[in-house]
Amino acid sequence: MSERTQGYKQRAAERAAELIESGMVVGLGTGSTAILAVRRLAQRLESGELTDLVGVPTSEATAAEARKLGIPLTTLDDRPTVDLTIDGADEVDPRLDLIKGGGGALLREKIVAQASARVIIVVDEGKLSPVLGTKWAVPIEVVPFGLRTEALFLEELGATVEPRLAGNGDYFLSDSGNKILDANFGPIEDAQELAWLLEERAAIVTHGLFLGLATEVIVAGPDGLRELKPEDDE
Ligand code: A5P
Repeated sequence: MSERTQGYKQRAAERAAELIESGMVVGLGTGSTAILAVRRLAQRLESGELTDLVGVPTSEATAAEARKLGIPLTTLDDRPTVDLTIDGADEVDPRLDLIKGGGGALLREKIVAQASARVIIVVDEGKLSPVLGTKWAVPIEVVPFGLRTEALFLEELGATVEPRLAGNGDYFLSDSGNKILDANFGPIEDAQELAWLLEERAAIVTHGLFLGLATEVIVAGPDGLRELKPEDDE
């Protein structure tokens, strides 16, 4: 990642972290951008600027980092509704629909997003796309028992499918013990229709199409920060 992109991620993440208030239940996203917001949140807690706050991490990786930084954590069992979640995305379209799951945390990310009153997505400008699927494959989280069958199903829908592998060449396993198929559909004409088709399949636990979930997207680029809301497009 270029230094410039890293700088954009930092600015978007820091701006989002400023929106956190004392007393909130905060969803802590996963990935290289979301973690910058987690760090900024930790600084604000450390300085005493924020108090009485708990985080709901969207992955084991984020939980580990948050613990290290001294952020008090809770679970959706204890706090089933979240005030504000800050997370990254892989691709963002003009309606603020997203592809997520590049880091493999899509299931918990979607659960936390659906539990959240506000979902703030932080991205650098390179993530903006005219049509979902143009830049990124759709991660599909699959119960291992049905992996081959679902791969065939995705191919029949027209996707090129790659199983996600870990660094050691084994299958990547999600925090819930599932495998991931990266399904490259190219530009997706009707993301809602595709989401419905995927959701009908028994072995597909979830997919990386996050439709209608982002309440705000903070984008950083060479011209500074932009804060987008879904209605901006209407
Ligand atoms: C994690 O599973 C993803 O959804 C991330 O939020 C997404 O991949 C963005 O990651 P970066 O901020 O590292 O680009």
